[in-house]
This record gives sequence, structure tokens and C-alpha cells, in this order.
Amino acid sequence: MKRLNSLAFALLFALAGCNPGANDKGNDTIEGKVERLLAQMTLEEKVGQMNQYNGFYDATGPAPSEGDAKNKYEHLKKGWVGSVLNVKGAQEVFEMQRVVVEESRLGIPLIFGLDVIHGQKTLAPIPLGEAASWDLEAIEKSARIAAIEATATGQNWTFAPMVDISRDARWGRVMEGAGEDPYLGAKIGVARVKGFQGDDLSANNTMAACAKHFAGYGFAEAGRDYNTVDVGTSTLYNVIFPPFEAAVSAGVKTVMNSFNILNGIPATGDRFLQREILKGKWGFQGFVVSDWGSVGEMIKHGYAKDLKEAAELAANAGSDMDMESYAYVKYLAELVREGKVSEELVDDAVRRILRLKFELGLFDDPYRYCNTEREKELLYHEDHMKGVLDVAKKSIVLLKNENNLLPLAKNQKNIALIGALASDKTSPLGSWRVSSDDNTAVSVLEGLEAYSNDFKYAKGPKLVTSEVAFHIPLTFNMTDRSGMKEAIELAKRSDIVVMVLGEHGLLSGEGRSRVNIDLPGLQQELLEEVYKVNRNIVLVLMNGRPLALPWADQHIPAIVEAWHLGTQSGNAIAQVLYGDYNPSGKLTMSFPRHVGQCPIYYNHYSTGRPDVKPEVFWSHYSDESNDPLYPFGYGLSYTTFEYDALQVNVKSNEMVEVLVNVTNTGQVEGEEVVQLYLHDKAASVVRPVKELKGFEKIFLKPAESKQVKFTLTNKELGFFNHKGEFVVEPGMFDLMVGTSSVEGLNGQFELK
Ligand code: GLC
Repeated sequence: MKRLNSLAFALLFALAGCNPGANDKGNDTIEGKVERLLAQMTLEEKVGQMNQYNGFYDATGPAPSEGDAKNKYEHLKKGWVGSVLNVKGAQEVFEMQRVVVEESRLGIPLIFGLDVIHGQKTLAPIPLGEAASWDLEAIEKSARIAAIEATATGQNWTFAPMVDISRDARWGRVMEGAGEDPYLGAKIGVARVKGFQGDDLSANNTMAACAKHFAGYGFAEAGRDYNTVDVGTSTLYNVIFPPFEAAVSAGVKTVMNSFNILNGIPATGDRFLQREILKGKWGFQGFVVSDWGSVGEMIKHGYAKDLKEAAELAANAGSDMDMESYAYVKYLAELVREGKVSEELVDDAVRRILRLKFELGLFDDPYRYCNTEREKELLYHEDHMKGVLDVAKKSIVLLKNENNLLPLAKNQKNIALIGALASDKTSPLGSWRVSSDDNTAVSVLEGLEAYSNDFKYAKGPKLVTSEVAFHIPLTFNMTDRSGMKEAIELAKRSDIVVMVLGEHGLLSGEGRSRVNIDLPGLQQELLEEVYKVNRNIVLVLMNGRPLALPWADQHIPAIVEAWHLGTQSGNAIAQVLYGDYNPSGKLTMSFPRHVGQCPIYYNHYSTGRPDVKPEVFWSHYSDESNDPLYPFGYGLSYTTFEYDALQVNVKSNEMVEVLVNVTNTGQVEGEEVVQLYLHDKAASVVRPVKELKGFEKIFLKPAESKQVKFTLTNKELGFFNHKGEFVVEPGMFDLMVGTSSVEGLNGQFELK
């Protein structure tokens, strides 16, 4: 039967005079269109909207059993599919959309989802790297670039931003988030939502965003992916929730729930999370998609006895769409007929899904994202290259620079470049790059070539010995020392050595937890052997997680944290090494001295025995310091900044004004991230020894000063108590304003 498109619907109902959705001007509202369409749908078609399939291409999760996959195409024609993920390219999306729009009874367009985590083809730094820029404008622009390219390939929904707070470098997905702080994580999450969704969701270069993974995924025990999460109320309300609530307040259109159990209940089946908090307390109007197969995984969690019960539990708990469990498409209609899931709940889920499809303009033009000419014109566009280069430079963190070894002189001669990662054009792209092409990053070697031809390159031993793919384990090279001797020889006869060491691009990401967070393979040996013959070393780190590098910190004069910086990696690194860009990045996740310190984070509680004592009865390790190697908020510059004239003015019990003066006391211009930390010294729920409650990134020329002003309101002064109530309590507050979480001017104030 020829489908009725939205215009026909409008005519049909206008004639019938029943136009419940008309606004005061008689125009059709989205709510009206949703209601009229819903009234047309059979129960199976409603359930179909709640069903998401993988698009027969790369599986970003355990590939489904063949049996289920074979029905997919039939289900498209029956209107039993609401969304498809991992369909690559405008033409492929068009083909699949055409089947549904032209051949299913109601022709309800599909929404196409994809993990556009840090870019589509032109890649920005991994999010943990980008977060280190503390530049919300650059981060929003980066997400905008990603959305422009992704929508050009037919996508209208990204499974980003990942806003999981993470404190454990063993967990491979720390690369995907913004680090350990909820205040900064919330600001960055909002910037990314705005970048993806833009101002007009119906435009063909904006896409729905997805705050994930709700909730607590970053607290997987021992940093082991998918592992148990068991946290207290205070951590849940004051650390885990805030970035999600901020994303909801910013209008994020979807939320993805998480694989893990949270305090004994799988998030996918957790009514408290999805209905009481997300849709209830926070008033979330979008829809919740499960993570890959997480509905079905409730069986293995020991929460559902079989797939049918899993479908019942997930639907009743508020999971609106089932990604690749086949649970809803198989059992939900039956469960409604049995009265185990009310049709009202199904209608609510379907309304949420249809509303987004109308907002995206998919009913006006289901093919608006399928323009192959636009795709050709926009992918790898030079404006995008400029945008990702800008944010990449800003993401680099200068960790050490003894005797100002950096920046390199432009006429520096006789440089040795060493390390397999230095010529690697794929690893800098990082993990979670499901659509980018291998070998498209500017390598460090290529970046340096733009500055000098007076350097020689020695690769050293290879990094991995296994085939590399998103879903298979990596094997480090631990035995093949080919290249080691040449590298050492080159270092011996060179004036200065730039070593690029760290992690292969797929050594972090999903399913990539490590119990050792040192330099993998033979890299530490290579570093120490080179150091024996030449101590003039600049170490450039290329990694997706904090690494424990005590030896390097003690011996190597200059260390630059360059993450996996994306497509323009080599150019960004070269511009920093040669001083054309003064590094301004600050860490958003603590770097441990030893993996045994994990989880380690700056916003920890005091304990009752924080003070160093001669005997053993205080909170410490007998074999390692409590402190990180590099703390949250830390990052050096080629210039220096001085803080003075701190003023704290308590305007009322709900407003405190803080002023500080910052001066560039060095020889070159630079940016400084001025950070404000608070400590509520005595509260009804103990508060961290310090919490970031404000920051501003400023630019200063040499000798220039600027007064920075912070205004603290209830939002910054308060916290959630054990009942989940937000409270501001009287008492003394310590305050610090400075260049990192461990260095600044101290002040105090009292709330009466
Ligand atoms: C993965 C991830 C999730 C991603 C989804 C779709 O397993 O956990 O972040 O968006 O599946 O690829």
C-alpha cells in the first residue's frame, strides 16, 4: 500500500477537523503530528520504532547470531525497525531509508546512529585530549565539524558525548571522556551537545546528540571494562550525575544507558535511574537507547531469567529503544498483550522517538542527509583541518621543561627523531574512530619536516606484533629488538633527541583495560638505552590514558603530553615543539606514579588521618606516595604567570565574588587556565578536600596583567546530601585560585 506521507496526514486530519496538535495559529505542531501518527500505528509498528539494528556493517559490539540478523531486511519493510546504526555513507543510508519510506505501510523514516566520538573523517583529538584544552569554544567547534561531516554521510544521530566521570587509568574508555572532574565534565559535555545539535535540529548539518553511559560506567571496579559498579549516594549525586543533568538541561536529545550494574541493578533495567531521576526529576523529554545488547545482557547479569523477561524489565524501567538485543522486536508486543508492559509505556517511548524524527525534519524530507555531492564536498574539508589543528594544539600539555630545552630553535641542527609512533599515521587518530580512514593523520615525522630537514629518523623496535582491528586484542612486541641498535647509534651522534613513545591508537578505548599503565612493549628499554648515550631528550607522549612514568619524570628533561591528537597531530606537535604555539593544556585526569594508586583523583575526601606521621597510623602507602606524578589541572607554559591580589567578597549567603590578578611574567605570549577550587570544611556530608568550581582561560602578552573575576552562587557552593537534595550549608570554606589543583593563592570565607 502506498504510504501516507506527513503532508497527506495533515490534509487527512485537517479535513476531519480534528487537529489536536494545531497551535494558536492553526499550524501543525510536532506534538500534533506525533499524536496523529501514533493513532495510526499498530502495536507491532510501535514496537518497531523501539527496535534498533546494526547496519549489517562493522559491529561495534558482539556481532549478533546469524539467525536474528537474517530477518533484518524483512523487518525494515514491515516497519519493525526504528533506527539503524553503523550504516556508512550517504548512498547506503539512502538505500536503506528508501526501503522503509517507500515500502513499509506508514513510511516512518529511520534515524541513523553512529559513534561520531571525535570526528567523522577529519578527526579531532580523543576527548580526553581535547578536554585538556579547557577551551569550551574550541571543543564546541570541534563537535560542530564532526556533525557537519557525519551528517554529510547520512547520519542524524551521534552516540556522543560520553560524559562518564573516570578516575581509573586502567579503564580503556577514559580516552572517550573528559576526565575526573564533574564540574569540568559537565561544561565540556554541554559544549559538545551544542556543537552536535546546533541551533536548528532540522538543518541537514546538525544531528541529535547522546549523553552516555547512564550511569556510573566509569566507576567499573578495578578499571576492568563492563565490571561491577557499586558507589555511594554522595558519589552518585555529586560526581556521576552532574554531567548528565547538565546535558539534559542543555537539551540533549537522547541518553544511552550503560552495560554495568549500578548498586546491584543493571542500568538498562533501572527504573530509579531512567524514570525517577532522568525522566522524572530532570524532566528529560528525549529517549533512552540501550547500549549494544545491554537489554539481553541482563540475563548474564542475573537480573532477567530470559530474553522475554529482559524486555519486560527494560521497557518498564524506561529503556525506550533496544540496540541489537532483538528483545523488543521478539517479545514486547506479546508482553503488552499479556498486560506485563502497559501500552501507555510503549506509547510514551514511541512518542519520544517520533518527536525526535519530526524535529530532525525526517518526515519533511527523509533523504535530507543523503546528498552524495555534499558528502564529497565536505569530508576532509580544509576548514575542518584548520579547526582540528587549532583544538589539537590547545590540547597539548607541557609536563616538564628543564632548562627550557623547549622550544627547539628554528635553526636547531642534528636532531634525532626516534620511535615507531613518530612515523605512525594511524595511531594518532586514536580509538573510537569508526569512520575515519587509516593513514590519514599527519605524523610527527611529517610535522617536523615542515620545520626542518636537519633531522634523521630511526624507528626503533616495532610496537605491536598482532594484526590491528577495533575489536581484536593487541599483542605488544616484547622480543624483537630490530631497530634498537640503529636508534641508539643515531642518538649517540645527534645534538638533541625527540622521542615519540606511548600507546598504539587502539590500546585504549572499549574493551582495552590494562593492569600496567607504563610504556608498553620495548619502549621503556629504548628510552633508557637512548638516555645512556644522549641525555638531551624531548619525550613526546602519544597515549589514550594517563601513564605511570616515574623514571621518565626523574630523568628526561622535557616531556610533552600529546595524546592521540587526531588528523592534524604531527602539525600540532611540531608547532608546539618549535614554539609557534605556546602550550596551554592542563590535565583533566591525574597521572599516577604507580598503577597501584588507581583510582587516584584530586577531588578526594580527607579521611580521618590525612596528616603525615612518623608512625604508620595514617592514610598512606608504605611503598609509594599518595600524590600523583602530575595532578589534575597541571600544565606548564613557555612563559610564566604570577598570581596576586586575591580578593574574596561574601556578597550574601548565596553569592561570593572572587577576584585575582594574573600577570605574564615571561618573555613570550601565552594562555593560562585560571582555576578556582573550593573546600566546604565541615558539612552534613563530607566534601572533597577541593573541588573545581570555576575556570577561565586567558591570553596574556609578556608583562600584561588581567583581573579575573569569579562569581560563586548556590550552584557552586552547594552539594547533594544523602537524600539527593541539593543544599547550601553555613560554615567555613577554603578557597584556592591558581594554575593547577595544587598551586595557587589561598583564601577563606564563611557562609552564615
Ligand atoms: C558500544 C559502546 C557504546 C556505543 C555503542 C554503539 O558497545 O558501549 O558507547 O555507542 O556500542 O556502537
